[in-house]
Amino acid sequence: MAARLDREGRLSARGFQVAKAVAVLAFAGLCSACSDERARGPERWVLSNVHIETYPTARGLADLAERVAADPALSSRMTIDLQLGGVLGNEKEALEKLRFGAIQMACVSAAPLQEFAPVAGVLALPFLFESSEELFRTLEGEIGAEIVEGISEAGFVPLAWFDAGERSFYNRTRPIRRPEDLRGLKIRVQRSELMRDMVEALGASPVALGFKQVYTSLHTGAIDGAENNLPSYRSERHFEAAGFYSLDRHAIVPDVVLVSVDRWRSLSGEQQTRLREAAEASAHAQREYWTESSRAAALAVTEAGCEINEVDDPESFRRAVEPVYAEHAGRFGDLVERIKAAGRP
Ligand code: GCU
Repeated sequence: MAARLDREGRLSARGFQVAKAVAVLAFAGLCSACSDERARGPERWVLSNVHIETYPTARGLADLAERVAADPALSSRMTIDLQLGGVLGNEKEALEKLRFGAIQMACVSAAPLQEFAPVAGVLALPFLFESSEELFRTLEGEIGAEIVEGISEAGFVPLAWFDAGERSFYNRTRPIRRPEDLRGLKIRVQRSELMRDMVEALGASPVALGFKQVYTSLHTGAIDGAENNLPSYRSERHFEAAGFYSLDRHAIVPDVVLVSVDRWRSLSGEQQTRLREAAEASAHAQREYWTESSRAAALAVTEAGCEINEVDDPESFRRAVEPVYAEHAGRFGDLVERIKAAGRP
């Protein structure tokens, strides 16, 4: 409703009364929305993750929940309810739930995210990064911003990247020293076409399974091995069945903390900034937990009798996965070339 203006553009007396009434009503509406929000109290934001409480990623997420709870601008709006250990399902299910609004947050590996946001797949390419430092430098720059944008277009807002270390192969039968040693082994892969093709290129048979199915499948012999970082190998007790861990370091794939686009948009600009800052601070803490945990994992599994070996010729593994680049790199436009150029100045 518009109040009437006189020729000079001033409000007439009646127009002024009407405008005043409208403003009072609007203000009352706003106040009742605020008090409704206060009366309802903070919303519960469920965050799904597959790891157990003591794992560095779960500790980083607990750190985030605490930071949110300690900040009145955020705690008046939400409490983060951590659902760990995959109790809400595997990562693909978490992403589906996040998309449909059944949960509000998730922390998943970039590899299965590819199915929803194709650009995330670039981070799962084998031997793309030399180290976690190189990965994080890339993610913090312009390339990282493009990846974040691509993920946001798929309906998930990435808040921060968590370290998930280097992935290597482990199995029940023998140390892997050369790509040929993988021949004939059934290796569990994440739900990612790219990971499946990588394992195939190395001569093994990929079996796509959720993270929480790996332990039983190793014990029953449904699979011979899997590939993951040392902290997961230890925390999921995969080492009990698969005693050979071979450091080929074929991929450095980060985890990412996501919030649904819908919940993100429900926050004020200030709340968005504070939530992002809290997530970034937690990511720094998580990366420290990661370093400690990787060292501790190597020690613990060795003490438990597992054998950790370096591969004979890392270059032979790089050569063997070239077909993966031929098949997938083109999907990411010039990203692969730009990542390589940025990483090796
Ligand atoms: C890592 C990663 C998880 C992922 C898992 C997997 O542990 O942190 O997010 O689920 O690998 O192989 O499925």
